[in-house]
Amino acid sequence: MRPIILVGFMGSGKTTVGKELASVLGCPFTDTDQVIENSEGVPVSQIFAEKGENYFRELEKDIVENLDDTHFEVIAVGGGLPCYNGLMDVLNKKGFTVYLKADEELLFERLWHEMEERPLIEGMGEHELKAFISRKLMEREPYYQQALITILSTESTVSDIIRQLPPHQKN
Ligand code: S3P
Repeated sequence: MRPIILVGFMGSGKTTVGKELASVLGCPFTDTDQVIENSEGVPVSQIFAEKGENYFRELEKDIVENLDDTHFEVIAVGGGLPCYNGLMDVLNKKGFTVYLKADEELLFERLWHEMEERPLIEGMGEHELKAFISRKLMEREPYYQQALITILSTESTVSDIIRQLPPHQKN
């Protein structure tokens, strides 16, 4: 059975929803940022600072290329991952992709309180962060929207996803 892969902007709730979904479905949960932090031994922000974004994107590419498309698990991928190196296509070939969609206001509210661990937005002021979300979301949505299904990031997200899974994706 193929993995279920959650894509979406930073702050859309991929990790929280992914963990809950995996626990309901009784399968493992993987977060690509976590995989990278474990293999590199340092936080994502330090990888960006010391080795640069391109190096990080190559690590993301390696993970996706080596992803086992027969292993049933829920995978949350970093917000930028589907938008580089043609990886959205690869994700669609390897798994059941879900776009966790959140509007700009919700993303701002969440990200405003969690900027430290996110190198792309660290240290931004309110207006700068709002403009960044607006611009990046417009740039990235065409990739996210290629996911097989789109789910709004609201309280009923997990049950909404489960309702839309084809029977063979439910264990
Ligand atoms: C990034 C999103 C982050 C992390 C890195 C870059 C991005 O993941 O991969 O900071 O480019 O949007 P989350 O979406 O899990 O925050």
